[in-house]
Amino acid sequence: MKKIAVLTSGGDAPGMNACIRAVVRAGIFNGFEVYGVKRGYNGLITDDMERLEMRSVSSIIQRGGTMLYSARCLEFKTPEGQAVAIENMKRRGIDGLIVIGGDGSFRGACAITNQCGIPTVGIPGTIDNDLAYTDFTLGFDTAANTVVSLINNIRDTMTSHSRMSVIEVMGRNCGDLALYSGIAGGAEVIIVPEVPVTAEEVISRIEASRSKGKVSCIIVIAEGVKDFESKLEVIRERLHADMRVSVLGHIQRGGSPTMRDRLLASQFGTRAVELLMENKGSRAVGIRNDQIIDMDIIEAVEMPRKFNKELYEMAKILAM
Ligand code: ADP
Ligand code: F6P
Repeated sequence: MKKIAVLTSGGDAPGMNACIRAVVRAGIFNGFEVYGVKRGYNGLITDDMERLEMRSVSSIIQRGGTMLYSARCLEFKTPEGQAVAIENMKRRGIDGLIVIGGDGSFRGACAITNQCGIPTVGIPGTIDNDLAYTDFTLGFDTAANTVVSLINNIRDTMTSHSRMSVIEVMGRNCGDLALYSGIAGGAEVIIVPEVPVTAEEVISRIEASRSKGKVSCIIVIAEGVKDFESKLEVIRERLHADMRVSVLGHIQRGGSPTMRDRLLASQFGTRAVELLMENKGSRAVGIRNDQIIDMDIIEAVEMPRKFNKELYEMAKILAM
């Protein structure tokens, strides 16, 4: 194997740049030519890729986003799009591909290996932390820290005015970003898609905290929680709350990656290159119990998610 390529796909995540840097430097160190593919799978279809050298990835470890750009490429989901992408890879003599992205991006990587045998390795890069096989995905720590910092700001002003704040955070269908940042931000109530709650439950929890002297209240709610608006209205009315809603949006997806994400990115990128050196394809890299692991990419994608109910229950106690 001589030439390998790397791409970033799906929603971007802080730490993707640090991971590209690791792939390029570990790759060149181990004798590969490394190519950076632009805009996810689009770049494979349009043959938009460039050779990356050690200095091409200078000064990106601290930057959010991805220097290779990212995209959701619908054409790549079609057999025709995949055929063009594979043709381009073969013509260029690409012997291995590293894909940094979420579960959809991993499925794309599998499609390549299944159809032409070119080994692919998936690196989990998403702020959603929604891949069950790995304890953490790249970008989750940074996004959670950003959310915590925003909760801090909102709490200052909510406390001054004795208000109630509802803060909606991203995460797609996964409640991890809400749960972890809610705990670290001291939220009074955390609402996630994995655990349905009634308006009555929320009201009684807030009443209990008020009876213990709390004057402001922060509810962190994951975007994946559906149809909660009417319940919020009931909560607001019954508690006579002066309620404000903040939807954090993409502010939580950018920004300089934390030390933890930079380290994880470096370890993931290096392991992915090692797997290609061993000619191992269809693998997904992750972290479990502080150990970098790899496993079959399809098994990784299909592993059912387990929500951390212990953390959720702990949050309820500590919020009092
Ligand atoms: P993520 O990787 O963050 O889960 P998406 O689900 O949007 O994000 O997937 C990113 C891209 O991966 C898609 O736009 C498409 O190009 C590719 N992809 C997703 N699912 C598949 C699939 N089943 N087969 C082939 N490619 C896929
Ligand atoms: O998957 C990352 C993510 O930021 C999700 O948390 C969110 O639901 C989605 O992407 C937003 O997508 P877009 O950037 O296309 O609006």
